Amino acid sequence: MKFFIDTANIEDIRSANALGILAGVTTNPSLVAKEGVSFHERLKEITDEVSGSVSAEVISEDAEGMIEEGKELAAIAPNITVKVPMTLEGLKAVKAFSDLNIKTNVTLIFNANQALLAARAGASYVSPFLGRLDDIGQDGMDLIATIAGIFDRHGIETEIIAASIRHPLHVTDAALNGAHIATIPYKVLGQLVKHPLTDQGIEKFLNDWNKK
Ligand code: E4P
Repeated sequence: MKFFIDTANIEDIRSANALGILAGVTTNPSLVAKEGVSFHERLKEITDEVSGSVSAEVISEDAEGMIEEGKELAAIAPNITVKVPMTLEGLKAVKAFSDLNIKTNVTLIFNANQALLAARAGASYVSPFLGRLDDIGQDGMDLIATIAGIFDRHGIETEIIAASIRHPLHVTDAALNGAHIATIPYKVLGQLVKHPLTDQGIEKFLNDWNKK
């Protein structure tokens, strides 16, 4: 399983990229709005920093508008992936982008049929939202396993991005259940590194070294 970072904050993206583990970036309208910057300018900064897939979401609700927006986004850099919501209009747009060789990430996936439809329309990625399912008492991880099972059984190459990740256990379980990618907030990335015994071990080694 690969790591994407789920943010539009350029400092966090640069810090994550310096770790050598970053395979891509996902953004969404809420994350971009938090930054208070020009969307296109920020995407340029991100694509200059990261060579992997950078998901940029369209906000139009009709296929024609999505296609127009997506073409403009894709023109920013070759590694832009157009993020499209899971709707009938979104599926039409995904098919059009696929014909244009523009990569897509179908977002707001909450059941396996949505993932299968997106894949068959030509999506490069599907993004099931774990945390938001957990929030309403449904099992987000079960959805990852189901989608992974279906894609595997039918030889579908669309990659599964475990999204709406809230804590380190989501990351481990997403990897175990067949997600190809986990897109994680910067805070969770920091949590993945930490273990109290690692910190205690470093402290003890340094104390012993300084006693010699
Ligand atoms: C990423 O592609 C999603 O937009 C993001 O993970 C959603 O996360 P949230 O449910 O915490 O807003």
